[in-house]
Amino acid sequence: FLPQVMAGKKVVITAGPTQEAIDPVRYISNHSSGKMGYALAHAAQLLGAQVVLISGPCALKTPLGITKIAVKSAQQMLQAAERYSPNCDVFIACAAVADYKVSQVADQKIKKHQHQVSLQLERNPDVLATIAQQIEKPFCVGFAAETQDVAHYAKDKMQRKNLDMIVANDVSQQNIGFNSEENAVTVFWHNGEQNFPTMHKLQLAIQLIQLVAKHYEYKKSQ
Ligand code: PMT
Repeated sequence: FLPQVMAGKKVVITAGPTQEAIDPVRYISNHSSGKMGYALAHAAQLLGAQVVLISGPCALKTPLGITKIAVKSAQQMLQAAERYSPNCDVFIACAAVADYKVSQVADQKIKKHQHQVSLQLERNPDVLATIAQQIEKPFCVGFAAETQDVAHYAKDKMQRKNLDMIVANDVSQQNIGFNSEENAVTVFWHNGEQNFPTMHKLQLAIQLIQLVAKHYEYKKSQ
């Protein structure tokens, strides 16, 4: 039995990678499996929340009772986030959103006539920063996947994206982070931090949602 610290709360979570089309058969993506984001969705639901999971393409089963919105590209993830975030209490961005998309997606499969081809890329919209800039923004939690200077970059992202909390994920280690069963993170907020050692992603997710619930209640009481 888990205390229902999220009872009555609406939570929107982004998870998985995004895919940015190159042509009808190819895309740019990354190694996110969706496991961390799905674990967070499951944990939030176990703790009593009503959960919308906005998921990029991945092979995981949706936990029972969770509303899943399947998307492919960053642009689609943004549209879904803008649709489902109004009236939500907490927004958690765990997705590994592609930072760039192909400027001109080819209508037909690109043929291999040339030895070299170049793709022109342009910046994708930032899903989390867009939600966190709203006037009546939800309690916003970001993730920061970093391979060096983890704490520094994570805190910088928290400030730049106007977040309430950031989960710093050192993805330079094979056994944690991308596509692993376990994870280890450090969470930062404006005047504090907490370290979570290596554990199964669902176990970690439960502890993260409990921490989020505590800070959400504290912010609301201010
Ligand atoms: O899916 P798994 O295999 O379980 O792996 C989990 C994970 C390593 C993907 C996850 O724990 C994690 O760290 N997710 C964030 C990955 C990431 O893209 O981090 P970032 O530092 O590039 O982005 C910072 C934050 O902005 C993230 O909350 C991200 O969701 C968000 N973002 C980034 C770019 C963008 N265009 N839109 C966004 O919303």
